[in-house]
Amino acid sequence: MNVLIVGGSGGIGWALCKTLSTLPNVTVMATYRQGVPKEAEDYSDIVWLPLDVCEPSQYAPLVEGITEVLSGVQDKGVEQPARLDWVINCVGQLSIDQAQPEKNLKSIEAERFAKAMQVNTLPTLLLAQYLQSLLRRSTAPRFATISARVGSISDNGLGGWYSYRCSKAALNMALKNISIEWGRLMPNSCTVALHPGTTDTSLSKPFQANVPEHKLFSTDKTARLLIGVLMSLQRENNGQFLAFDGSLIEW
Ligand SMILES: NC(=O)c1ccc[n+]([C@@H]2O[C@H](COP(=O)([O-])OP(=O)(O)OC[C@H]3O[C@@H](n4cnc5c(N)ncnc54)[C@H](OP(=O)(O)O)[C@@H]3O)[C@@H](O)[C@H]2O)c1
Repeated sequence: MNVLIVGGSGGIGWALCKTLSTLPNVTVMATYRQGVPKEAEDYSDIVWLPLDVCEPSQYAPLVEGITEVLSGVQDKGVEQPARLDWVINCVGQLSIDQAQPEKNLKSIEAERFAKAMQVNTLPTLLLAQYLQSLLRRSTAPRFATISARVGSISDNGLGGWYSYRCSKAALNMALKNISIEWGRLMPNSCTVALHPGTTDTSLSKPFQANVPEHKLFSTDKTARLLIGVLMSLQRENNGQFLAFDGSLIEW
């Protein structure tokens, strides 16, 4: 199985890379922006490719990089065309430009709102656009982005966090749309939005004070749970918003 983790250097992304790389017959490719994790030296099988998801010009070179990594792979002595089986986008930002998420309308700032959409929403569409031909060669393609329960409109009881909530709600719509288009094009594909649960990473650090200990997951736990969800996906899960325990979240 060939897997691409987008944002492999982040808390959840890196845990997914490590866990997947220990499974048999899995090739893990991962993207980084600023640098690869220090621990990456101990996982030399993981192949790293550069990608700033906010730079549209970097997607075509990413496809070239993946194709190069996968070229020459043989099955029963026959060279196979490059193929991706799973893509998991783990890139996301909550605090934009060091600013805490908005508590009220007064704190909305146009540029930060646009940046939230640029980093949390648009990249999933560009990844789908650029990676479609590689995923199409898989017998059971899986395409997932880590969303967030706070992107659910029906679950929103607290308000606040305007840019993050709006960008994740828009991300969810993007994933739903992709699932419909690919449901026709690749009937065995599954496209989902995933909620990881509150996970101990740099993104959640400033907001952990009121989270009960048992509700704050380690990145390794989250990775195990999300891989379990992805492994158990069936055709009917296409286009769903799923939590770390496989339960359905309403849009
Ligand atoms: N942690 C939680 O409790 C929680 C809860 C719900 C949802 N989520 C979602 O889970 C996902 C992963 O978050 P995390 O908790 O693992 O956060 P994290 O540790 O801060 O990781 C975020 C990743 O995004 C990357 N990134 C940011 N901007 C980028 C850009 N322009 N181009 C490429 N990469 C970029 C970062 O790369 P650099 O290192 O290069 O900056 C980093 O790898 C996010 O979508 C987040 O919204 C997290």
